[in-house]
Amino acid sequence: MHILEITDDTLKQAAQLIRRGGLVAFPAETVCGLGADAFNPVALARIFEAKSRPRFDPLIVHIAAPEMLEKVADPGLLDSAERKKLDELTARFWPGPLTLILPKRKAVPDLATSGLPTVAVRLPAHDAARRLIALSTGAIAAPSANPFGRLSPTRAEHVLAGLGDKADIILDGGPSQVGLESTVLDISHGQPRILRPGGTPREAIEALIGPAAFDTAADPGTGIITSPGMLKSHYAPRTPLAAHDLQTICGIPGDDGIALLFFDGPSRNAWISARNAEGLHEKEIVIAVLSETGDLLKAAAKLFETLHELDRRGIKQIHAQLAPETGLGIAINDRLQRGSREKKFSGLPSRL
Ligand code: TXA
Ligand code: MG
Repeated sequence: MHILEITDDTLKQAAQLIRRGGLVAFPAETVCGLGADAFNPVALARIFEAKSRPRFDPLIVHIAAPEMLEKVADPGLLDSAERKKLDELTARFWPGPLTLILPKRKAVPDLATSGLPTVAVRLPAHDAARRLIALSTGAIAAPSANPFGRLSPTRAEHVLAGLGDKADIILDGGPSQVGLESTVLDISHGQPRILRPGGTPREAIEALIGPAAFDTAADPGTGIITSPGMLKSHYAPRTPLAAHDLQTICGIPGDDGIALLFFDGPSRNAWISARNAEGLHEKEIVIAVLSETGDLLKAAAKLFETLHELDRRGIKQIHAQLAPETGLGIAINDRLQRGSREKKFSGLPSRL
């Protein structure tokens, strides 16, 4: 068993492993990461292998303190307006679930950024994650610690179930508090663009720096994948998943073997009353609710956790209700919609 509780000793051991080119799964406030030394191309290659991740999909470099930013990114290449946004965003949202796309320094190997001239940088809010980064090389490249395309892990056990012994060790820091990946925001040129909705809501970003449009599509000219926001299927449980609005989910009959995942308690009650004459108590149906009161923070924290649990139960179909399209609801819906798409990776390059 290589799940380890976090102590001073295990953090030191993990940091040493990273310095030697190892892979360490670690907790973050968003989801668990699979970390390697961001400056070591061989260790970075191991991340792509362990996850079966295509090399065109770049990694996030995690730092432990704002000063480290200059070692991996070059803010000197930003114009003064972009520079101001960088300062405002880092002062307000770091540490926290916001990843910034910035001009890259040469010290970061091309493998980390899939050959892009930019690098994704994040300062996580999880204390153990920051201690691990500070004790290792100061910059840890880490994707979510799941096989590519699958549900992100929010607990050490999810990492073990998904990756087995592909991580050298798995640090257990308890469940992730946010439960959704960081928001990826490109401020490297021109108008800021949100490449992936996540734990920092668009509204909060725009209140600080002005317009930040969602841009999760590929560049139509080059077809270059800028974010897995691009991939048709991602964040997918093994069990088939369908995402519905309230009206549609209320029309779904209570068949044996299905699971219903409601956003809030009143929606679940609406579905149950719509089923009144259908003898529900004789059916094998699993009913789950993300947040009884419809609290978006609580719902986000439970999303992957609940999907992992439903995935273990041998259910034939999960029907999930979409959240309101506001705040974290946008990221919740993004994950539900991508998780419910057909798996079509064909047509995409598998290697750079
Ligand atoms: O919350 C998180 O962000 C977690 C934890 C572990 O920190 N990490 C995570 O990493 O979700 P991953 O690899 O699953 O997602 C990284 C995202 C992808 O959407 C990737 O395309 C995008 O960041 N990305 C990385 N570098 C980029 C770049 N230079 N330009 C545009 N997008 C980039
Ligand atoms: Mg991921």
